[in-house]
Amino acid sequence: MTARFFDLDALGLTLLEESKGRAAALMQKGIIPCLALVEVGDDPQSATYVSRKIEDCKKVGIAVQKIVLSETITQADLLDQILQLDRDTSITGILVQLPLPAHLNEGQVLQAISAEKDVDGLHPVNLMSLTTSDPSVIPCTVRGIDAVLQQTGLVLEGANVAVLGRGRLVGGPATLLLSGKSRNATVTSLHRKSRNFKDVLRNSDVIIAAAGSAHLVIPDMVRAGAVVIDVGMSWPEGSLQGDVHPAVAEIASWMTPPDRSFGVMTRMMLLKTVLDLAEKRIAA
Ligand code: GUN
Repeated sequence: MTARFFDLDALGLTLLEESKGRAAALMQKGIIPCLALVEVGDDPQSATYVSRKIEDCKKVGIAVQKIVLSETITQADLLDQILQLDRDTSITGILVQLPLPAHLNEGQVLQAISAEKDVDGLHPVNLMSLTTSDPSVIPCTVRGIDAVLQQTGLVLEGANVAVLGRGRLVGGPATLLLSGKSRNATVTSLHRKSRNFKDVLRNSDVIIAAAGSAHLVIPDMVRAGAVVIDVGMSWPEGSLQGDVHPAVAEIASWMTPPDRSFGVMTRMMLLKTVLDLAEKRIAA
């Protein structure tokens, strides 16, 4: 079997056009969706991600307020900044770019953003809602994974899904959403301490790799016809590698293209979520 690759560019373009329409409709009602993007320190990769988010917002008509804070900011000062943004009624969504410098408490920062402005879906209230039949805000990369899974036509309910990694942005929330009462899959979370890694993978209809460990998944571990989604990123010898070996494409039915990142889906889902939250404010 040779896998079909998801056409992430085409999907991304469709999502972009959809968001342009929704932003224009909001504008006609006199509502300007506005995303506050908080960047702490000058990590070059975070700066690149933030610039791309700003470009995307501009393309669809979402206003952006970028706040760059010093690498040495205290927890108290950062929380104070977030509180101010949270109180500002012209701002409809807030995103604090992660990772934060090591001296800051990420969990506490994410809790300081009110659930109604949390475009990342990382506030504990939003995370808990992933387990229910009606998730409120799905974290952007997980929302992208969910969208590509829908494209395959696979019935998630009851399917065996392996999620590699338990990270805050992808592995953790993907496990909550897919095992929850809206998607109803049978999910196994695999991590460093897992003993029966290969057996679980071979028994999986879907593999979601978000471990950040180059070529962790090889063909021998994959069931013929499985759907394989690789969002893992690592740079073992200076070049970007996914978690899944490209030869897995000979075994899988659907797979993310091995030569590119999943970033376009994450970015397009961020726009969708910013618009969701702006629309909900009108409805409230
Ligand atoms: N850093 C890398 N990806 C993300 C993301 O989706 N959200 C936030 N807040 N930080 C990130």
